[in-house]
Amino acid sequence: MRPVSTPAAPAAASAPAAIAFRGVTKIHHTPKGPFEALGGVSLDVAPGEIFGLLGPNGAGKTTLISILAGLTRATAGTASVLGHDVVADAPQARRLLGVVPQELVFDPFFSLREALRIQSGYFGLRRNDDWIDDLLHSLGLADKANANMRQLSGGMKRRAMVAQALVHKPKVIVLDEPTAGVDVELRQTLWQFVSRLNREGSTVLLTTHYLEEAEALCSRIAMIKRGQVVALAKTSELLSRASSNVLRFKLDTPLPPALAAVARVTGRVVQLPAPTAADVEHALSAIRQAGGRVEDIEIRKADLEDVFLDVMGASEGPQGRGVGATEPGPGRPNPASAPLGGSEGPQGRSVGARSS
Ligand SMILES: Nc1ncnc2c1ncn2[C@@H]1O[C@H](COP(=O)(O)OP(=O)(O)O)[C@@H](O)[C@H]1O
Ligand SMILES: [Mg+2]
Repeated sequence: MRPVSTPAAPAAASAPAAIAFRGVTKIHHTPKGPFEALGGVSLDVAPGEIFGLLGPNGAGKTTLISILAGLTRATAGTASVLGHDVVADAPQARRLLGVVPQELVFDPFFSLREALRIQSGYFGLRRNDDWIDDLLHSLGLADKANANMRQLSGGMKRRAMVAQALVHKPKVIVLDEPTAGVDVELRQTLWQFVSRLNREGSTVLLTTHYLEEAEALCSRIAMIKRGQVVALAKTSELLSRASSNVLRFKLDTPLPPALAAVARVTGRVVQLPAPTAADVEHALSAIRQAGGRVEDIEIRKADLEDVFLDVMGASEGPQGRGVGATEPGPGRPNPASAPLGGSEGPQGRSVGARSS
């Protein structure tokens, strides 16, 4: 499948983008030489959007978000929040932005409520308790308000991180894999709350490995791979570009090589693109001739994960990203190796493991 792209966000010409990246490049100097983590990323997130940034581990998502948050400097290019450059106009950009980082960072000496009050103080907000209570309630943290941060479970810490990022009511909210490794209940709580904030006017940029979350939530999606945008389109448009049907079944014997080359395999579960009935017949008869017996056949519509795998496979290009390129980048997973971690588990489907 070809890389897909559409022009920048459909924002009114006069209104600045909620988030704008222009030619953002980041080069790390490593002992092995320069390593380009981002190679000229340009994209706009329009005010009011929920925008998804997807890519395999090491693609550069967290680096891009760190540049937006002012935690890392871009080697070249600019980033801005509602028209405020994150370097030249850092205080304004920071006030408008709330970032939930991928890593859990918290001060172990304070209770949750104290931490939120201190955070409010950084933004000059003295009487913020109504909003703090709303946050605690909406995130299911009300009974943990006086608990010490270090006593919170992992899931509760994750909720606390979200509360901290939102304590100053930022207009633009960025969530970097907020649902990696968290239970279904927290995922639902979190996305309900994020949807509410979006309805109330906040713009949201999120990264997630759970592609069904992105499919359900995001109006537009950018896919990045090895520091480059390889697809950027409306979610509906991306979905319409996938082959329309997928044949899914269970099989205990190896697939014939021609099918293995295009299959997605997770344990016994095999998924094959099959746009037409003839494709279905062809696949099943090829397996029968090879002596295989299929079970639990079903045909489903292609989803965002199919598109993601197509895009990541199609964009497999020259590797030249500097001698420091120690992380090869997952690319299209080996179809024979159950590529989609946890894809049949209670957490839903995910792409790759959580990076750290
Ligand atoms: N300080 C650093 N020095 C060298 N390489 C780095 C540094 N930080 C990140 N990288 C590399 O940059 C690439 C992008 O990382 P990251 O932005 O965390 O990707 P993602 O969030 O998409 O998983 C990775 O290959 C990572 O190893
Ligand atoms: Mg990351």
